Amino acid sequence: MTQDELKKAVGWAALEYVRPGTIVGVGTGSTAAHFIDALGSIKHQIEGAVSSSDASTAKLQSLGITVFDPNEVDSLDIYVDGADEINRQMQMIKGGGAALTREKIIAAIARQFICIVDASKQVDILGKFPLPVEVIPMARAYVARELVKLGGLPEYRQHVVTDNGNVILDVHNLKIIDAIDLENKINSISGVVTVGLFARRAADVALVGTANGVVKVVK
Ligand code: A5P
Repeated sequence: MTQDELKKAVGWAALEYVRPGTIVGVGTGSTAAHFIDALGSIKHQIEGAVSSSDASTAKLQSLGITVFDPNEVDSLDIYVDGADEINRQMQMIKGGGAALTREKIIAAIARQFICIVDASKQVDILGKFPLPVEVIPMARAYVARELVKLGGLPEYRQHVVTDNGNVILDVHNLKIIDAIDLENKINSISGVVTVGLFARRAADVALVGTANGVVKVVK
C-alpha cells in the first residue's frame, strides 16, 4: 500500500469515533483531508465541525458540512488530526502544515484526541522531524536566538504566513527526551505563539495505518 492509501485507511477508520448529532473537531493536512472526505459521507448525521485551518474549513464547506466558530462551542467529543511524529507516550510533533496553533486550541477543547497516522510517523524519540514554532513576525530573530540556547537549529520557513498572520521557525537538531519540559520552555519565550509539541495534551487514541491494516493504540 502507498503512504496515501495508509492515510486514507486511518482517515476513514476514525469515523468509528464520531457520535451522531455532535460537532466534530477537525485537523489539517493530507491525512485529515481523508477524514474530512469520510465525514462528508455521514454529513447528515452530524451537527457540523470545528476546523483547525482555512484549508480544512474550505474543504468541509465544499462538502456541505457546517463549520462553527470554536467560541460558539462549549466542548467537543473528539478532535481528529494527523501528526508529523508520535511516540509511545502518544506525544506528538505537529505543524508541518503550519496549522499548529489552531490545532492546539481545538485539541484543548476536545475530550478525546484521535491521532490518525501512517506507520512512518511512529518514533521512539521525537525530534527527527524539525519542530515547528509559530512566532510573531517581529520576534523571529530573538526567538531563533533563544531556540539556539535550547540546543536547536532554527530555520525560518520561507514564504509561509500562518492563518494567524505569523511566521514559522522549524527547529532542527533536537532529540526530545522530556517533551513536556521542552514544550513549557519554548512556550515561555516572548514572541512564541505556539510550539508544535503536543506533550501536555497528548493523543488519547492513535489509529496507525500499517500494511496489515489499521492498528489502534490507546493511551
Ligand atoms: C498540520 O499543521 C500538521 O499538524 C499535520 O497534522 C501534520 O503535518 C500531518 O500532516 P499529514 O497528514 O499531511 O502527513
